[in-house]
Amino acid sequence: MDKLVAGNWKMNGGLASNRLLLDAFTPVSGVDMLVCVPYPYLSQAQQRTPSIALGAQDVSEFPAGAYTGEVSAAMLRDFDCTFVIVGHSERRALFHEDNATVARKAAAALAAGVTPIVCVGETLAERDAGRVMDVIGAQLSAVLEVLGVAAMARIVLAYEPVWAIGAGRSASAEQVAGVHGAIRAWLATRGVDAGTLRILYGGSVKPQNAAELFAIQHVDGALVGGASLVADDFMAICRAAAHR
Ligand code: PGA
Repeated sequence: MDKLVAGNWKMNGGLASNRLLLDAFTPVSGVDMLVCVPYPYLSQAQQRTPSIALGAQDVSEFPAGAYTGEVSAAMLRDFDCTFVIVGHSERRALFHEDNATVARKAAAALAAGVTPIVCVGETLAERDAGRVMDVIGAQLSAVLEVLGVAAMARIVLAYEPVWAIGAGRSASAEQVAGVHGAIRAWLATRGVDAGTLRILYGGSVKPQNAAELFAIQHVDGALVGGASLVADDFMAICRAAAHR
């Protein structure tokens, strides 16, 4: 299974700067590349990156109707989005998305043929309290409850320790290995056939630590924030993931 390297631009970019960035993204063999752009730029990215998969950073839990400001999964499909990030910690913390909402968003995405990248992860206080798998287990349970075991195997997970996001320093190889292994075990215990389910790591992934992270067992790719806004850095991370 090739690794998946997903760029998350967050609320950054503009038509002119996007053009430069998108034109610098070239496909790398042996890795699946994805760029998750803000909604208004989906069309621009769709036209400029035919060889790189396109995704969004959020999606409505509702299919259509009177939900001012929302964007449905079917609309994302119209722009050839094959993935959408759901439950990013910024959405959970700043926009009050709870585990149940995240689960419904994941279901809405799957129903429209868009693969959700479900983000899970603990805060520093939760880690210090020894509650890492309690927190992640609750986040995963909510999704499993809504999707069921068969559909659960069709999502992508991203382990993003909240304290490592935008921090400049990723979690250590030991910490990443521990959580990724624990997530695999959690899925297996619940009967999820997760053979093809990818678990990405996110949180300060950059060219300097990418190779080390991709060498860890059960790290099946990366969700990259800041470094995905720098073409050379994103390309270097993709190359580090190729044929691993
Ligand atoms: P970062 O962000 O790479 O800038 O730490 C990762 C993310 O929030 O997905």
